[in-house]
Amino acid sequence: MSRPLVVDVHTHVYPPSYMAMLRARKTVPYIHDPASGEPRLIILSSDDDPSIPIDERGRPVDTSYSDINVKLTFMRQHGIDCSVISLANPWLDFLDPAEAQKWAERINDDLEETCVQNNKSSNPDNNLPLQGRSTLFAFATLPLSAPSADIIVNEIKRLKTLPHIRGVIMGTSGLGNGLDDEQLGPVWAALEETQFLLFLHPHYGLPDEAFGGAEVTKRYGHVLPLALGFPLETTIAVTRMLLSRVFDKFPRLQILLAHSGGTLPFLAGRIESCIMHERKFVENGGDVPGPQRSIWEVLKTNIFLDAVVYGAAGLKAAIAAGGGTDRLMFGTDHPFFPPLNEGEKEWLSVTTNYKAIDATFEGETEAVAAVLGGNAARILKLE
Ligand code: URA
Ligand code: ZN
Repeated sequence: MSRPLVVDVHTHVYPPSYMAMLRARKTVPYIHDPASGEPRLIILSSDDDPSIPIDERGRPVDTSYSDINVKLTFMRQHGIDCSVISLANPWLDFLDPAEAQKWAERINDDLEETCVQNNKSSNPDNNLPLQGRSTLFAFATLPLSAPSADIIVNEIKRLKTLPHIRGVIMGTSGLGNGLDDEQLGPVWAALEETQFLLFLHPHYGLPDEAFGGAEVTKRYGHVLPLALGFPLETTIAVTRMLLSRVFDKFPRLQILLAHSGGTLPFLAGRIESCIMHERKFVENGGDVPGPQRSIWEVLKTNIFLDAVVYGAAGLKAAIAAGGGTDRLMFGTDHPFFPPLNEGEKEWLSVTTNYKAIDATFEGETEAVAAVLGGNAARILKLE
């Protein structure tokens, strides 16, 4: 059998315009250029620790973040035929309200243009199959700090006119009050109407106290915030959406959860059981009903999961809870988690995910092909 199509649905960029904006800032998120060595990216609040010399704060940020040719080389080295690129965290969350619309339009136009130019050169006739062509599509970003939801809705509608945009990436803060905020209703409605996939991705993690305090967090570098903070943040965000009945009110909303849903597949039964025992919630001093659709139904009809979980146990939970193999899609999280040794071409983070998929399906070639690319091509209409 020929090799299956491979589509990466979880792969980030910081377009050059965004890098320049981060360089001009002095508070998180920002880029610092030391006198010598690679620039540093300080994006997590835990990165900006005054006890660490500024030249050593955060992580090195090389051209793999902003130069699309570096991503294309990475794709070829790892057998990836097509990537759906998205702006990395923290997106535009931190922008002054007056700046949000302008930046969203600029970034989204940049992403679209990157796809147009790349796809033109990889296949001028545009009529070959995706395989072997290094094709690009994109998830856009939203001006969530804009002064009114209308501006966000208008950008979603404008995105429909950009041919390579297949959805939007969003963090967990929403308009600033989380994803159970009623004010997000028009945004959910616009996403439902356009049938854009919402890629929900963490950034804020958990407070240091959850890990035993700032000293403990710092001792273990990025391990606690990235391995535990990120997945729990996603789990909490999507659970708040469920509890506030977002999926009852917008039953056609389609969401892709980063990192195989955080811990949602593993905890789904417990969340459902707690909802059943609580029955109703208190809001504005009165009782309101809990969600009417079960978490299992939502997992099977509204939620897709990426396969960025680095192990067969996580993938098995994702399949068991999340409606089988049709709703799981390969991803890399490039350019985060680069190789450990300089000059190394193969990324351990990517080969670990490939191996986990092989170990999970043990020779079920159709399931492997679906997860590696078939599902993404179908769900995102990549042609
Ligand atoms: N670290 C981040 O800040 N973002 C990612 O997407 C992955 C790792
Ligand atoms: Zn990511």
